[in-house]
Amino acid sequence: MTATRRTLIAGNWKMNGKSADGVALATSVGGKMKSAAGASFDMLVCPPFTLISKVGEAIKGSGVMLGGQDCHTNVSGAHTGDISAEMLKDMGCGAVIVGHSERRTDHKETDELVAAKASAAHAAGLIAVICIGETEAERDAGKTLDVNGSQVAGSVPAGSNAKNTVIAYEPVWAIGTGRTPTNDEVQEVHAFIRGELAKKVGANEAAAMRILYGGSMKPGNAKELIALADVDGGLIGGASLNADDFWAIGEASN
Ligand code: 13P
Repeated sequence: MTATRRTLIAGNWKMNGKSADGVALATSVGGKMKSAAGASFDMLVCPPFTLISKVGEAIKGSGVMLGGQDCHTNVSGAHTGDISAEMLKDMGCGAVIVGHSERRTDHKETDELVAAKASAAHAAGLIAVICIGETEAERDAGKTLDVNGSQVAGSVPAGSNAKNTVIAYEPVWAIGTGRTPTNDEVQEVHAFIRGELAKKVGANEAAAMRILYGGSMKPGNAKELIALADVDGGLIGGASLNADDFWAIGEASN
């Protein structure tokens, strides 16, 4: 965390939530943000597509940003089951997650596809939250920096800058497992990612670009993680499904 980059606390609800609980969660998070008027961090919630509209209504005027969890590379067309970045923008979204490891695994998404999705997000006026991170086997093989370096090189498209792009470093083995790298390991990877970003977007944009940590972030470990020099917030899965926990993570960044 540094004073020049505004902390972002982002919730990825994944494939969770039906109308009643999703709206209740969003209403609670929005209410907390509103009553905290002037919070020193930004907050983003990314519900499943089915709840985008209702969650958008629930957080309206609260200052919490709405986001999608994925988008297609095209604006419109014959792509059954897909959603475009323009459609998300039309529903009031300000951001979209691209390249989450679950999509890279479940849908065989490549760096090239992720970069194209991020470009589509930029073209629609959305912030692309580009996810990268190594698997446990890659970490054990000493390839952590190589893997993250090549994902930055391949997944961050031309035209990316600190305003339209956020990077989320999510070690795959830390997602939903309750395990996290040590603080030193997190800081090492984040600083390395910032250095690789500089090669793509220039030193000034890289210095201003937010790099979030994701993977078992909870109220109990958020403060020390977000305090690290190159960690600018969190991308939170499980703990973002509980309004009190999600909010506590935001407050831990103060
Ligand atoms: P958890 O916070 O549940 O580990 O999930 C992290 C994540 O994948 C967010 O995108």
